[in-house]
Amino acid sequence: MTEISDLSGARGGYPHIRPRRNRRAAWARALVSENTLSASDLIWPLFVLEGSGQREAIPSMPGVERLSIDLIVEAAREAAALGILAVALFPYTDPKLRTDDAREAFNPDNLVCRATRAIKAAGIDLGVILDVALDPYTSHGHDGLVHDGVILNDETVAALVKQSLNQVAAGCDVLAPSDMMDGRIGAIRVALEAAGHHDTQIMSYAAKYASAFYGPFRDAVGSSSTLKGDKRTYQMDPANTDEALREVALDIAEGADLVMVKPGMPYLDIVRRVSETFKVPTFAYQVSGEYAMLMAAAERGWLDGDKAMMESLLAFKRAGASGILTYFAPRVARMLSSR
Ligand code: PBG
Repeated sequence: MTEISDLSGARGGYPHIRPRRNRRAAWARALVSENTLSASDLIWPLFVLEGSGQREAIPSMPGVERLSIDLIVEAAREAAALGILAVALFPYTDPKLRTDDAREAFNPDNLVCRATRAIKAAGIDLGVILDVALDPYTSHGHDGLVHDGVILNDETVAALVKQSLNQVAAGCDVLAPSDMMDGRIGAIRVALEAAGHHDTQIMSYAAKYASAFYGPFRDAVGSSSTLKGDKRTYQMDPANTDEALREVALDIAEGADLVMVKPGMPYLDIVRRVSETFKVPTFAYQVSGEYAMLMAAAERGWLDGDKAMMESLLAFKRAGASGILTYFAPRVARMLSSR
C-alpha cells in the first residue's frame, strides 16, 4: 500500500511537478492564460486638424497623422467597426488662435467641438472622450493660466469648468481632465450637476507624472515649440508612488468615474497599486513617447514591432488596467480580428 506521505509529487518537486506541461501547445497555453487583450480594452487617441480631406504626418509618431474632421469621422467609423469602444480627440489649434487666456477652448465651434458633433451626427456608436486642459490653446503651452511664471490653480480651474461645459454642449460623452490642477474634478462635477449633465462621465488623469515621454504628443498638438519651462509644478514627480494614491483618492472623492495613470509602461507599478487599492475602473495611457520608442526600434529591425506592441499592451492588463489609451489601437484591433 502506498501511503499518501510517500507521494513525493504531492509534496512538490520535480519530476512530478513540471510547469512546462501547461505550456506545451498553443491550446494548452490558451487554456490557462490569466489575461487577454481585446479591442474593447482600447481607446484610440486622434489628432484633429482644420480643413477637409487633410492629413498631416507627425514625424516623431510614425503611422500617426493629424486628420481633418471629415477624416476623423472616417476614423471613428473604422474604430467602431473594429470593436474599439471610444476615441479621445486632441486638437492641433492654429497658432494664431493660441492666446494667454486660452479663449479658443471656450469656442463652441473649436476643432474638438466640431469633430464631436460630426461623429455624433454620423450616428457612430462610439464614446467620445475630450481632454480638459488648456495647453492646445495657450500661447505658452502650459495646461493652466500663467501669471509671472506661476501656473495659477484656482483661475485655471474656473477656465477648465468653462471648457468642460463647452465640450459637453458639443456632445462629448466623457471629460478627461489632464491638467493636474487641484480641485478641478470637484469643480467640474459640481458644474455638470448644476447644468443637468448628470450622466457625463469624468475620466480623471489622476496620477499624471511630469514625463519626458510626452514629447511626440507635444509635436502633434504643436505645443513643443510654444512650451516655456516644464510642468513640474503641477504634474507629479516620477519618484513618488504614495502620492499617486492620494491623488487618485481625491479625484474619486470629488466625483471621477474612471481614473487614469500616465505614462503607462514605466508606471505599471502605479497601475497595479491604484487598481488594487481602489477597485475603480483604472486606465493607463501608453503615451506618445512609448509609441515612438517601439516604432523606432521596429523600424530599425531591432524589435519585432507586432510582438512588442502586443506584449506591451498585455502588460497593462496584467497590471490591472481596465483599458488602455494607445496609438496602436486600430492596428491591434485589426490583428486581433484576423486571428
Ligand atoms: C495635455 C496632455 C498631454 C498628453 C495628454 N494630454 C501632454 C502633456 O501633459 O504635456 C500626453 C499624451 C501623450 O504623450 O501621448 N494636457
